[in-house]
Amino acid sequence: MTRFLAIASAKGGVGKTTAAINLATAMVNFGKDVVVLDANISKPNVSMHLGTPKLNHTLHDVLKGNIHITDAAYIHPSGLRIIPGNISLAVLKEIEGHDLSNFKNILIDLIGTTDLVILDTGSGLGREVQAVLGASDEMIAITNPEITSVTDTFKTIRIAEEAGCKVIGVIVNRQSGNVAEMEVKNIEAMLGKNILGIIPEDINVQKSIAARQPLVYLYPDSRASINYKQLAAKLMGQEYVHSIQAGKNK
Ligand SMILES: Nc1ncnc2c1ncn2[C@@H]1O[C@H](COP(=O)(O)OP(=O)(O)OP(=O)(O)O)[C@@H](O)[C@H]1O
Ligand SMILES: [Mg+2]
Repeated sequence: MTRFLAIASAKGGVGKTTAAINLATAMVNFGKDVVVLDANISKPNVSMHLGTPKLNHTLHDVLKGNIHITDAAYIHPSGLRIIPGNISLAVLKEIEGHDLSNFKNILIDLIGTTDLVILDTGSGLGREVQAVLGASDEMIAITNPEITSVTDTFKTIRIAEEAGCKVIGVIVNRQSGNVAEMEVKNIEAMLGKNILGIIPEDINVQKSIAARQPLVYLYPDSRASINYKQLAAKLMGQEYVHSIQAGKNK
């Protein structure tokens, strides 16, 4: 049965897209059949992270009723399957205000085509995010270790639960260990959810985005990569033991 797992936070820029792409890539490397869907409908950016901006078919064509969602799937050179959004401002303006109440129906065609669909979501708490969370079985909340991010992420957890989406835990992203940072135990207490994984601040994340490749593919031995792979294994119910991959980037 295909599972729909959203990565979400109302706070912009906390690492939703990075987490969606890298968890999916790690799971694919572990043998799971995964698709990343860019469900950040008003500001899609999966294709920017992966260097595939010019695409013939996107989720926006599906929303307009022109194609089926299965016709909008691409395989990135890293091996990751993605369903991207359209980044053109004209298309985004055209789709603004579109009725998203049937978003769950749009996803139905994906059932049976893959084990897991990871939905990258947009920031905010509006109807777009509510529609995407309402169409997802489960959600992982993501936050940075600072109060403004944690309070926004708390609201997303509430929105997900109101929409009937099970919140399975939290990723704390960009932990640097500086004195101003919130402690993980305090984040866990504020959010009332399990911390599933902690991803360190790592320049290799930015380097991989600049290279338009998933971090875990380009820098498999980097600290953030190892943590993403550990988290992916945990979500799959497996244990991950890291061994350095000879000749790869650090
Ligand atoms: N662990 C990390 N270490 C260093 N930089 C990171 C890390 N995670 C994310 N970033 C940086 O944070 C920025 C935002 O990441 P990302 O695009 O994944 O966030 P987002 O939540 O999807 O943003 P939006 O709300 O705009 O969709 C990127 O420039 C990325 O390089
Ligand atoms: Mg994003």
